[in-house]
Amino acid sequence: MVKYQKNNQFQWKKTKEDTVDEDEDSYLHPFALICTNSGYSNTRAKPKLFFFIFLFLLSCTLFLAPHLFSSNSITSLSFFYSFGVDNGSETDVNTSLCSSVPNGTICCDRSSIRSDICIMIGDVRTHSVSSSIFLYRATDPSGYLTGLTDDDEDEYVIQHEKIRPYTRKWEPGVMDTIAELDLVVKRKDFGVRRSCDVVHDVPAVFFSTGGYTGNLYHEFNDGILPLYITSQHLNKKVVFVILEYHNWWITKYGDILSQLSDFPAVEFHRDKRVHCFPKAIVGLRIHDELTIETSLMENHKTIGDFRDLLDRAYWPRIRGLIQDEERKARLKMEKSTLSPASRTMKKPKLVIISRNGSRAITNEDSLVKMAKSIGFLVEVLKPKRTTELAKVYRLLNSSDVMVGVHGAALTHFLFMRPGSVFIQVVPLGSEWAAGTFYAEPSQKLGLKYIGYKILPKESSLYIDYDKNDPILIDPSSVNKKGWEFTKKIYLDRQMVRLNLRRFRKRLLRAYYYSVARKNMR
Ligand SMILES: *[C@@H]1O[C@H](CO)[C@@H](O)[C@H](O)[C@H]1NC(C)=O
Ligand SMILES: *[C@@H]1O[C@H](CO)[C@@H](O)[C@H](O)[C@H]1NC(C)=O
Ligand SMILES: *[C@@H]1O[C@H](CO)[C@@H](O)[C@H](O)[C@H]1NC(C)=O
Ligand SMILES: *[C@@H]1O[C@H](CO)[C@@H](O)[C@H](O)[C@H]1NC(C)=O
Ligand SMILES: *[C@@H]1O[C@H](CO)[C@@H](O)[C@H](O)[C@H]1NC(C)=O
Repeated sequence: MVKYQKNNQFQWKKTKEDTVDEDEDSYLHPFALICTNSGYSNTRAKPKLFFFIFLFLLSCTLFLAPHLFSSNSITSLSFFYSFGVDNGSETDVNTSLCSSVPNGTICCDRSSIRSDICIMIGDVRTHSVSSSIFLYRATDPSGYLTGLTDDDEDEYVIQHEKIRPYTRKWEPGVMDTIAELDLVVKRKDFGVRRSCDVVHDVPAVFFSTGGYTGNLYHEFNDGILPLYITSQHLNKKVVFVILEYHNWWITKYGDILSQLSDFPAVEFHRDKRVHCFPKAIVGLRIHDELTIETSLMENHKTIGDFRDLLDRAYWPRIRGLIQDEERKARLKMEKSTLSPASRTMKKPKLVIISRNGSRAITNEDSLVKMAKSIGFLVEVLKPKRTTELAKVYRLLNSSDVMVGVHGAALTHFLFMRPGSVFIQVVPLGSEWAAGTFYAEPSQKLGLKYIGYKILPKESSLYIDYDKNDPILIDPSSVNKKGWEFTKKIYLDRQMVRLNLRRFRKRLLRAYYYSVARKNMR
């Protein structure tokens, strides 16, 4: 536990705004990496939630080694995170809780280990100076006697809840960086009721874009997907009220936000006006890593539906880009009868998500040559935090294969069309994370997943360590020692030099599959 908290302080320093690179994910999930156990993962144990919490509180050391993850089987890797979410009946997200909230009350669902969510119905008014949201209840004969609590200074307070609206509840270190909101039910007819500066006739959803925001994996996993899960059923009739607000986030995700809400977002702490709502949802629901659990969605939405939303979100911008290009092409059009594009139409397209620095592919140039010689059109994408997502979407949505080394930028698999191929290069010591955070969710989206687990000889660590060093031959024993070791050795200092003869087999598989698929269409 001590170790765990230290890690979080470290992460927090690293994740302060503007210090995080798009592809810097090395501070990801210390907890996940520390607390994994090969014994448990094999059996897919499904203990009750409270049992898990108990184990967690007791000691992380109960969970020992990451389960080795081979290219073909990704069985039960997310056992710890999913809590058996694969069966709707045994889940950490209790949909029945707070499904009907009486007017004038707050209902908080704190049953999930990942996030809390509170629903307030009635006369809801913000008071950002005190980080509060008030709910004024009309006096009624029963409430008059029963509702009042003794421990509140304010005698008109009927109910008081506190919440940090962020989806990583099990990581106290990062939760401490999120503002805490006071949700207070007061009696309407007593005391001062602040008057509304802005009256909304649609509900509000309150959430934070702080924490690990700045890292693509976290932006989608902790933010965008939970926002979709929590708000899509409102059909855009919702106002987003954001804590730890960043202008760049609004810019980066504007296309998606406009598919989820018809209204401009409110910056909670800067906007001192009193906003009034008929309902407030405070906090976001979250299911599993980068996915949507359909059985938990009110209207049975799937991760595929989320991807359709991305398609709608990016289409206007992409259409604009296409029109620009066509205009330019027409101007340049001379004698060229058949454009090269139409001749190469049938070639499958492969995109390499390129990293530089740690976990880069040092022989990437040779990889590109080999992929071309197999028959692929090859594009190398070096995503930066400022890279426009619509452009990345356009590229990946028109590609057949995506290749990349384990890391946050692989979150872009969400932009691949279902049925296309995703090859993840898995460096030494990262099998568990590779399986849980990218392999499993990409398969849920319907991608053909190929894991390429490198051999010690393909790792730069092979040069640094003795052939028999546990770092090379037994990464799980190193991961067992703790997150600092995993991070320092495997995530920050490891480069990959692909054995191209070995890797070629995967590329050929992907090639024949893609060609067959293209010809079927
Ligand atoms: C999942 O739940 C259903 C009932 O909802 C049950 O029939 C089925 O056996 C369960 N599967 C597992 C693997 O627990
Ligand atoms: C969900 O909440 C309801 C109401 O509190 C409870 O009866 C039910 O057992 C809960 N289910 C789970 C899976 O926690
Ligand atoms: C809650 O009750 C108030 C009157 O006390 C009413 O104006 C409001 O429409 C009700 N809201 C809902 C969602 O029923
Ligand atoms: C994504 O690709 C599909 C299939 O080629 C196409 O129909 C769709 O318009 C593309 N989406 C965007 C936003 O370009
Ligand atoms: C990584 O890329 C940046 C520019 O994108 C460059 O300035 C830097 O030198 C590169 N680092 C390495 C190790 O190649």
